[in-house]
Amino acid sequence: MKTVDILKKNVFLEHVAILQYLIHMFLIKDEKLRGEIEEIAKEEMKHMHMFASRAVYLGSQVDIKSVEDDIKDCDDIVNLIKEDIKAEEEAIEIYSAQIDLTKDDITKKMLELIIEDEKKHKKIFEYISEELEKDRQENITESPVKETVAFMNYLLRERYIKIVEIVKDFINDRDTSRKDFNLYKAIESMKLMGKIGETMAEKGIPVCFKYIKEKLGRTDISNMDDIMAVLNKFAKKERFMEAYEKDMEKGKGFTIGDLTSQE
Ligand SMILES: [Fe+2]
Ligand SMILES: [Fe+2]
Repeated sequence: MKTVDILKKNVFLEHVAILQYLIHMFLIKDEKLRGEIEEIAKEEMKHMHMFASRAVYLGSQVDIKSVEDDIKDCDDIVNLIKEDIKAEEEAIEIYSAQIDLTKDDITKKMLELIIEDEKKHKKIFEYISEELEKDRQENITESPVKETVAFMNYLLRERYIKIVEIVKDFINDRDTSRKDFNLYKAIESMKLMGKIGETMAEKGIPVCFKYIKEKLGRTDISNMDDIMAVLNKFAKKERFMEAYEKDMEKGKGFTIGDLTSQE
């Protein structure tokens, strides 16, 4: 196996972990436990970025596609966290074997470093699993599939798809100003995804993309004022970013300072 193939495989594995952990995080009411998972997801993002950057540096393009069909979801959270422990174990096993398969010293070092992170993650998931077992009933959200459930899942998924597109551009771009801009856009989209997910967790709305297909009819959003306010704010910012992107295509250029000053 060539080093770039190893790296690209790992980008995929990290991507699956990121989405899976975020989806699981949004199923947990306890803010502290959610925070623990958020930290892990952020580290997986770093891993994904490291693997991808190395592949691009070695002359490869990295294709990033939605991985929603590859994650473990739509089950009770106690079972799902067990899947996360398994995912960490698999990552440790796969990365350990890869150290001997590559001749690239940087990739070897990266793998060694990342394996240590994955070992730490495994322990944290084991702790989370124990905590959730303690109040199993508390943490299981069982609400019927209503329009609002489908709508919120739709919003969450739409944001995820958008992030995938932006990250793909971000990773493969050699133009540093465009790269900065795409990073900015990705972070904005992640913030919004986080807000939507947190709202779902707090209101006990189950996260499961299957629900979108089951029932996306008219949506009763009368009790969703808070989330609508957030959406409006982000929509405004998104239009502003789109305008900037057009300027950039015309070669006018931009600075991140211009964007942030519009807050
Ligand atoms: Fe990782
Ligand atoms: Fe991990």
